Amino acid sequence: MSSFSDLRQLLLVLGIPFFIFLASLLTFIRGRHHHHLPPGPPGIPILGNLLQLGPLPHRFLANLHKTYGPLVYLRLGSVHTVTTNDSEIFKEMMSTQDHIFASRYQRIAIKYFCYNGMDLVMGPYGDAWKRLRRIGVEHLLSNRQTLSFQRHRREEADCMVRFVMEKSLKGELVPLRDGYNRRCQKALERMEEVVNPVLEDHRARRKGNPDVEPSNFIDLLLSLQEKQGEDVLSDVMIKALILDLLGAGTDTTAVTNEWAMVQLLRHPHVMCKLQEELDNVVGKERALDEADLRNLPYLRCVTMEVLRLSQPGPFVAPRECLKATKVARYEIPANTMVIFNLFAHGRNPKVWPERTEEFVPERHMQNVQGKGFRMENGPGPEFHYTAFGGGRRRCAGASLAMIIVMLAVGRLLQSFNWAPPAGMSKDDIDLTEVFGLSTPLAAPLFAVATPRLSIDP
Ligand code: HEM
Repeated sequence: MSSFSDLRQLLLVLGIPFFIFLASLLTFIRGRHHHHLPPGPPGIPILGNLLQLGPLPHRFLANLHKTYGPLVYLRLGSVHTVTTNDSEIFKEMMSTQDHIFASRYQRIAIKYFCYNGMDLVMGPYGDAWKRLRRIGVEHLLSNRQTLSFQRHRREEADCMVRFVMEKSLKGELVPLRDGYNRRCQKALERMEEVVNPVLEDHRARRKGNPDVEPSNFIDLLLSLQEKQGEDVLSDVMIKALILDLLGAGTDTTAVTNEWAMVQLLRHPHVMCKLQEELDNVVGKERALDEADLRNLPYLRCVTMEVLRLSQPGPFVAPRECLKATKVARYEIPANTMVIFNLFAHGRNPKVWPERTEEFVPERHMQNVQGKGFRMENGPGPEFHYTAFGGGRRRCAGASLAMIIVMLAVGRLLQSFNWAPPAGMSKDDIDLTEVFGLSTPLAAPLFAVATPRLSIDP
């Protein structure tokens, strides 16, 4: 009798978890068939496909398209997720159905960012975001404003060239990772502690001098607040915008600069061709200036090709589908997380059929030459170039980003010849990346710089 009740207890203990497992398995399987979801790899109950992502999720997701096609469904824990590498689907989601896919996936936003719902990069689609986006695009990142901060960028570029020159004269190797931007990133992590005093400091300085022309983002935001009132632009919104622009603008451009230098070291013929363009357009008697950038189509192609192959954030800011809809005949449930895999799109042979995996800047030439050479960084009508995303959530700082990267790479190439450290060949350079909020090289790279200008930097 007692052994019978022991057996019953044992069956209960083993049976309940088994029953739960079976029930969630059935829900999982039924869920898949009930909706006509896009195809995707099988997952396990509860965790779904979470454990399959591995250390380089952008590569794992890119590989799935070979088996399951352009739109893939996964479950990351309990989160319905779809991912794509396809121009037509990008266009459908970022243009035709942009209003449905214009929000950010909120649970990630809450985890990584403060000012819940009040920030521009991760905020949900809605009135608060629209207001911030307007301030960002019309006031902080407009062409006029970008131009007015040109002097600061020139000073930064001079400073960078002097740093490389010092290393070069001492016969030391130059680290290609931008130390200044790394420090900014560290500061950003504890920004909440420092941003309040910084704001107060700027406010106090403006009090004595209210009419002075704003010379940085913070002064500009404070002057807007003075004009429009705190109801329209509160202190919290100002802080969120400052953090947004620092977060979205520093690591992305630093990592792109690093990848650009790596690709140039690996492709000396591209480096020579770029230096030839710089010598023809700018010469060796003066330093490259921002006004020169629109006359340097090859430099622009090099930057575009770097971004095609090495997106600084392969899917930095996942979107959220606001209501149930259909894309490419498949059902997408409401609140699905949408990952536009920019890394996979940049390496999709359907989009880039020729020498897909190779670094060939010339492939962009037809888009930047002659009359077609506009300082425009949009995805184009067919959504072929998506380094800056698309639709209403498209990168708000795309033009500024291109200026920053082209200026830095242009100055470094105009001022120096570059080679890998002694004993290392170009083919020894390790291209392995690490995945995080950005994707830099796993092993920091150093290089030898030799001055080539006839003026002092
Ligand atoms: C090479 C550098 C950069 C790259 C590759 C890049 C790329 C991107 C991408 C892919 C997105 C998401 C777009 C989408 O969801 O469709 C984004 C968003 C954003 N970027 Fe950039 N970005 C760069 C630099 C910058 C800079 C310099 C700034 C400004 C200082 C900036 C400001 C923003 C903002 C504010 C958003 C959020 C837009 C919104 O959600 O409405 N980015 N960026």
